[in-house]
Amino acid sequence: MKQDFQSFHANLSALDDQAINPSANPSLGQLVDQGRRNLLKGGMGLAALGFLGGALSGCRGAVQSDSLIGFSGIPTQLDPKFDSVQVAPGYSARTFFSWGDAVLADAPAWNPDASDDWQAQLKQAGDNHDGMHFFPFPDAPDSHGLLVMNHEYVNPPLHPNGMTFIDGKRPLDEVRKEQAAHGLSIIEVKKDAQGQWQRVMPSRYNRRLSAMTPMGVGGPLAGNEALKTVADPSGREIIGTVNNCSSGFTPWGTYLMCEENWHNYFVNHDAADLAKRTSHKRYGIAGEGLSKLYGWETADARFNATPDPTQPHSGYVNEPNRFGWVVEVDPFDPQSKPVKRTAFGRYCRECSVLSLGEDGRMAFYSGDDTKGEYVYKFVPAGRFVPGADQANRQLLDSGTLYVARFNADGSGEWLALVHGQNGLTVENGFTDQAEVLLNARAAADQAGATPMDRPEWVAVHPRSREVYVTLTNNDNRGVKWPTDKANPRPVNLHGQILRWNEKDADPTATAFTWEVFLLAGEQPGAKDASGQPAPPNLTGTINGDIFSSPDGLAFDEAGRLWIETDYGDEEAAMQAMGTNQLLCADPHTREVRRFLVGPRGCEITGITWSPDYRAMWINIQHPELSFPASDGKTRPRSSTVLITKNDGGVIGT
Ligand code: FEO
Ligand code: CA
Ligand code: CA
Repeated sequence: MKQDFQSFHANLSALDDQAINPSANPSLGQLVDQGRRNLLKGGMGLAALGFLGGALSGCRGAVQSDSLIGFSGIPTQLDPKFDSVQVAPGYSARTFFSWGDAVLADAPAWNPDASDDWQAQLKQAGDNHDGMHFFPFPDAPDSHGLLVMNHEYVNPPLHPNGMTFIDGKRPLDEVRKEQAAHGLSIIEVKKDAQGQWQRVMPSRYNRRLSAMTPMGVGGPLAGNEALKTVADPSGREIIGTVNNCSSGFTPWGTYLMCEENWHNYFVNHDAADLAKRTSHKRYGIAGEGLSKLYGWETADARFNATPDPTQPHSGYVNEPNRFGWVVEVDPFDPQSKPVKRTAFGRYCRECSVLSLGEDGRMAFYSGDDTKGEYVYKFVPAGRFVPGADQANRQLLDSGTLYVARFNADGSGEWLALVHGQNGLTVENGFTDQAEVLLNARAAADQAGATPMDRPEWVAVHPRSREVYVTLTNNDNRGVKWPTDKANPRPVNLHGQILRWNEKDADPTATAFTWEVFLLAGEQPGAKDASGQPAPPNLTGTINGDIFSSPDGLAFDEAGRLWIETDYGDEEAAMQAMGTNQLLCADPHTREVRRFLVGPRGCEITGITWSPDYRAMWINIQHPELSFPASDGKTRPRSSTVLITKNDGGVIGT
């Protein structure tokens, strides 16, 4: 059996959309890149303020200008064969880093027939570039840095003939190559004498992490019984990370990988066990046949989570408990061991996005990207203290996990997922705090969180600390969950963006006020192909250029909100949208303007800038035609694209 690219992606989209929240919670209607070295060197000087986007300045001023967006928007790209990247007039896009490009100095050159083996793949760029962050070097922040990016999952063209099975089993060499193409790339980048950004090769910083890299465990679950397996009786060393979607960073200069759809890599064939094991069932782990994505368990026993009472710790039944966390990585220390931070709670985490108060108190916001799941924030117990490196390195191991309730009157509450509070008691099935964190979704059900339309990225305004979240879509809204004020459209194919203000702009507040920023979709009055008005569920409130399914989201220094989309551009409801897009919104006027369109079949994701905002990198994930990769060859390759303004100016002006 082999899988072709398009059917793989059709199946994958169906998996992404699977709703598995059984809770009957009432819906709302019913109810730094300066990095630690820079901070150490310069204290919280001007450079640090620049890195933090002014978050420390305490200026809670509204956006002053009604013309934040300076470029001319471009039209939708409707060509069914479009196979390039088109950007606003006056800007240029250059492919910068593609699947298979050398990362380590001794990496073999990539073979366009995809014949590289897994040992080569371990030294080359992984597949499906996703969340990304630029970490500047302190002595030349605007011209020298480390570009760090996730490789979320793999596509069939990873192999010469797609993904194969022999006698019902995946060949081990294919599985190892797929595992090697997951994870993270860290690449050194620098401006050359002509002022052009280039990769630095070789570099002592260049590094690959994969689904085979040993990682430590921090926080309340470290060494916990629930994390022990036959291969790791300590419960303190986890092999690898998978499905790292979006990401985050800390003010002390580390990167946060987020484990999203990890459940698709496991299977538990014991139906009786699966039915009562919340840490499997509530996350949608497969119960029969193959695991949902790749069938790795047929070649690598670690991914078969069926209990085996003949083995210590029942074999690998706990292996899925070791995924779903935040992984903290120090990009400036190539020898450092990544650490899974369990205080953040376990779910299908899209992102982990920092908000930092003037006094060093923090929140990290996350979406759980599945229909009917929740928006969370983790508040570390301690405060960030510039220069206190050793203390800062402990900050992510203790704190409070909260989940959001969006009330119909525009108020909101953060519900603490703390044992003994909000119904998280022994009587309700939670024996201790470790179990609350392990089964964060079940804890959020119990606490009464609001089921949302697939929460994806979060972005925090650099000055006001206003928080925005993309809710990408939910065709089951109005079916499995009633509509409500935050999720107002039944059969919601186009998604929406919400925003909220924490009480007193305090990241750690437990109360907030919220509103819908926009509903994505067609313009009111739009007609479909037969000349009929678009139905209300497909009609949005966008002031400007249309799009569907917002996913990636980030603010630049000036407060422009950049929106990236992820929809199936072949679907009937998307015909007016064209290919996936990068848009820019003004939070004050709510105007939206289209900045970039990608090739057919791709998702636009990942976004980061040099600190002067004159270079922007984005990722083109899983293009399906022959989008020109960094070598100009023809096999479709997920790629990082560098965008600059032709006059050298700030992007977006
Ligand atoms: Fe990997 Fe929710 O996108
Ligand atoms: Ca995403
Ligand atoms: Ca998405």
